[in-house]
Amino acid sequence: MKVAFLGLGRMGAAMAAHVARADHELTVWNRTPGKAGALVELGAREATSVADAVTGAEMVVLMLFGPDAVREVLSEVLAHAPGSFVVDATTNGPAAAREFGALCAASGTRYVDAPVAGTVKPATDGTLGVLVGGPEADVEAARPLLELWGDPARVLRIGEIGSGSALKLCINQGLGVVAAGLGESLRLGRDLGVDRDLLLTVLSHTAYGWYLAQKQPMLQSGDYSATTFSVELMAKDLALAVEGSDSDLAVTRASLGQAQQALAAGHGGEDYAAITGHLADEGAADSS
Ligand SMILES: NC(=O)c1ccc[n+]([C@@H]2O[C@H](COP(=O)([O-])OP(=O)(O)OC[C@H]3O[C@@H](n4cnc5c(N)ncnc54)[C@H](OP(=O)(O)O)[C@@H]3O)[C@@H](O)[C@H]2O)c1
Repeated sequence: MKVAFLGLGRMGAAMAAHVARADHELTVWNRTPGKAGALVELGAREATSVADAVTGAEMVVLMLFGPDAVREVLSEVLAHAPGSFVVDATTNGPAAAREFGALCAASGTRYVDAPVAGTVKPATDGTLGVLVGGPEADVEAARPLLELWGDPARVLRIGEIGSGSALKLCINQGLGVVAAGLGESLRLGRDLGVDRDLLLTVLSHTAYGWYLAQKQPMLQSGDYSATTFSVELMAKDLALAVEGSDSDLAVTRASLGQAQQALAAGHGGEDYAAITGHLADEGAADSS
């Protein structure tokens, strides 16, 4: 199969490597050139433009930052590869996924939203969860590709286009709230004179356990540079959640505010654990 993979960020590069190792003709593209080296070594061709990447492609995979990036890139995909099949792995939210599905349908192009659950290690291992939205026949047609980066038992058709994205947004809303909530717990502990390391250890046996199992070393060292999922991505997803609901999601809104503060303080490219750290530590110098 001729596959074009667009977006070679942390996740895209790891996912595209599985396509390169499989028996497909792979062309890759990234907005900023220079990220395709390892994929080229695996046999992929690096394209110089979206048009170059998708012309003649049967399947086009998108793994981009978010809906604005997809909107921009998809218009070029549809201009140069109408009638292809777009697998959108980006976390876009359901409204954008439905918008993109309709755009594709108008040019005779099939589209599924297929955001992933899991981060860089499962992407590298090919064990991601994949939450797919689209007509059954399209989901089945995309499945062989999705199972290259997803655990076959966890490549799940959720429903029609947008349904995978809805579920994905609920997952990340929870993670964002946990990151901000723990920041406030640590802040409270600091205000009450509780030792930070002791507090982290005790909290790792509470509702924060799953998050701390991954983030405790970062929170203890204060070094958030080994990014898997960045602050800017989390801010994007919390904003999608707030904007995507008819309800006033006050806790989500507050968590978005904390993510935006971490962004404004220059942590955008760091791991989203920096949201917790920033909230825990901001003002520490003033009160010491
Ligand atoms: N990281 C995770 O753990 C994780 C897990 C599940 C889902 N996701 C989702 O997967 C997607 C990718 O995540 P990631 O961690 O790989 O992000 P990333 O490392 O920040 O990469 C983002 C990618 O989007 C591209 N991009 C951004 N704006 C663009 C534009 N206007 N036009 C074209 N390309 C553009 C970037 O290109 P440049 O290199 O040129 O900037 C880069 O290739 C996101 O939707 C994220 O929410 C991430």
